[in-house]
Order: sequence, then C-alpha cells, then structure tokens
Amino acid sequence: MSKPREILKIRDLYVNFYTYAGVVKAINGVDLDVYEGEVLGLVGETGCGKTVTSRAITRLIPPPGRIERGEIFFRKNGEWINLLNLDDDELRKIRGNDIAYIFQDPSSALDPLYTTGYQIAETMVVHNRADWNEAWKKAVELLKETMIPAPEERVKNFPHELSGGMKQRVVISIALSNDPKILIADEPTTNVDVTIQAELIDLLKELQRRKGTTIMLITHNMGLIAEMADRVAVMYAGNIVEIADVWTIFEEPMHPYTKGLLACVPDPLKKIERLEPIPGTIPNLIYPPPGCRFHPRCPHAMDICKKKRPPRKEIAPGHFVECWLYASEEERKEAEKE
Ligand SMILES: Nc1ncnc2c1ncn2[C@@H]1O[C@H](COP(=O)(O)OP(=O)(O)OP(=O)(O)O)[C@@H](O)[C@H]1O
Ligand code: SF4
Ligand SMILES: [Mg+2]
Repeated sequence: MSKPREILKIRDLYVNFYTYAGVVKAINGVDLDVYEGEVLGLVGETGCGKTVTSRAITRLIPPPGRIERGEIFFRKNGEWINLLNLDDDELRKIRGNDIAYIFQDPSSALDPLYTTGYQIAETMVVHNRADWNEAWKKAVELLKETMIPAPEERVKNFPHELSGGMKQRVVISIALSNDPKILIADEPTTNVDVTIQAELIDLLKELQRRKGTTIMLITHNMGLIAEMADRVAVMYAGNIVEIADVWTIFEEPMHPYTKGLLACVPDPLKKIERLEPIPGTIPNLIYPPPGCRFHPRCPHAMDICKKKRPPRKEIAPGHFVECWLYASEEERKEAEKE
C-alpha cells in the first residue's frame, strides 16, 4: 500500500471571539494533518472547538470571531496553498468546490425560495461555469446517487416540501456536486431520526468508498466514529489532545481526557448516542486554565500541568498525545525552570 499523503495541514491555529464579556480563546494552537482519502473523526465535548476548527479551514468564522494566527495548507494540483493567505475570490473558488461542508441543520443550509434542483445546479454553474441544462441533469443524477426516491420530481420541490432526511440528502448532493476533495461533515445526522441517520451514514460510506473523498467527520456519536473513521483527533477546550488511528483510540487511549471520554463506551460497536460527561465542565474560555487546559478535571494533574502547556509527543508511529505524563523527565525539569 502506498504511503498516505497529506491533503490538508493545519498549523498553530488560534481563533478568538471578541465578545462583550471578554475574549473567548476558542482555538488554542491546533496542529492537524488530514490524509488524502481518509475519514478523520473529530470528537470532543460540546464547545471544545470542533466546528470552529473546521470552519476556519475556509475562513468561515462568523463575527465576532477572528483567526489570530496560523497556517492552513491545502494541496491542490500538487502545490501547497496557504488558505489563510488567499483573497476572498480565490478562497470562494476553493470553498464549495474543493472543500465542501455538510452542516447539522439542513434547513438552514437550503434557501426556502428556490427549488432543490436549482440549488444543486447553481453550485455547479457558479463554480465550474457549467451549462444550466447540463447542471440540471447532473442535479437529478446526484439526487439519484443519494437514493432519494423519484429524483426527477424532487428537483422541482422546494425545501419545505421535503422531510428532514431528504433535505439532508439534498445538502449532500450540493456538497458533492463539484466532486470536492475534502468533505467536512459537521454532525451530519444529529437532526434526523435514528433510521434516517443509519441511511445517511451508509450513503456517506458508499460515496466515500466510490469516490475516495477525504472526509472530516465531526460528531459526538462514538458508534459512528467506530463505524466510519480511519483516524480520530480528540479535542478539549480548543486543543487537540490526542490523535491516533481509530482502533488505538478505542483500545489504547493515552490522554486522560480521551480515557474519560471513552469510559462509557466499552464496546465501540455499541452505538452510544452522546458522550458521557467527565466530572466537571469545560472551562470558560475567556479565562482558560493556565498550563494544560484539562488540569482542573484531570485525576493525574501534577504541578507542572498547572503552569505549562504539555508538549505534543509521538508515542508510537502516528499516535500523538499532548500530556505531561508522556513527556520525559528532562522535558518536565526544563519546563519547571522556565
Ligand atoms: N459566535 C460566537 N461567539 C462567541 N463564542 C463563540 C462563538 N462561536 C463559538 N464560540 C466559542 O468557541 C468555542 C468552540 O465552539 P465550537 O462551536 O467550535 O464547539 P463544538 O466543539 O463544535 O461544540 P458542539 O459539539 O456543541 O457543536 C466555544 O467555547 C464557543 O463558546
Ligand atoms: S498534562 Fe497533566 S493535567 Fe493535562 S491531561 Fe496530562 S496529566 Fe492531566
Ligand atoms: Mg459544533
């Protein structure tokens, strides 16, 4: 098997929200590689920064948010482009074209005033200057691919005429209309009922298998992660604390937060809907705890944890952990001195 190639590299990403209450330090130095053709799961409790990280990739951060620092490299036609340096026009060509999103709420992603066919075709016309007739035909094809019944009729429907599950299929069709290299699916099944959830997941799996699209899958559902993801990145309070392949995350988690997160999922094949909360709550990110942001909740917290952010260590090939427990004695001593 050939070595996996990176398609996206996030480096030292910081995002703040300038609210009346203070500056929310939402993303705190995130580093993440995404490999071509993989499904990368991004997990963590609510408010830990999954959505903000994924939106930052194409600078979709709503005000009062601001990307403070960092680089986001996307490999296009063999060249690395820093997405954070592109002007708005250049970025628009990438967003919805090379990098597409599916969000939690299909209703807000669709325009109530236009038919579904128009909305799917429009994406192709805008991005690829496709001919309307061709785009319309492809819209029907795409809906067919998403297993929507009677696609020739559905293209004439307005969003309010469709069920939640069907709307999400339309959103998936729009996202796939330009054959994106990366599909970012942010809680894509949260707002639909359980049977439809399973169908949508099968659909995403099938499309991924057939087209080899790289998927970043954001979810609270560890069953879904077990079923779909190749690798998993675990986030806590604006940091990625652990990254490993899916088997390792479930069987040999190293970070105390990941361990806590999984304590309630003894068997990854069992579908658990929500993550069991770890005692304590995610900190207020206007005043994040110094050092390791997890230290107020961590059963293993040491003195150094309260003062210095832990370094990221690769403890086995491809298995990264940010925790002082896995740093060397020298590193800890060195950090104590600073
Ligand atoms: N518009 C905003 N104004 C202020 N703070 C925000 C805003 N949007 C996000 N944040 C903050 O950024 C942090 C990360 O939020 P984000 O939405 O990325 O979390 P998440 O991991 O996606 O959570 P969930 O699982 O609930 O979707 C949170 O602390 C949140 O308070
Ligand atoms: S760095 Fe310290 S506080 Fe943070 S997770 Fe590791 S042991 Fe716990
Ligand atoms: Mg979110």
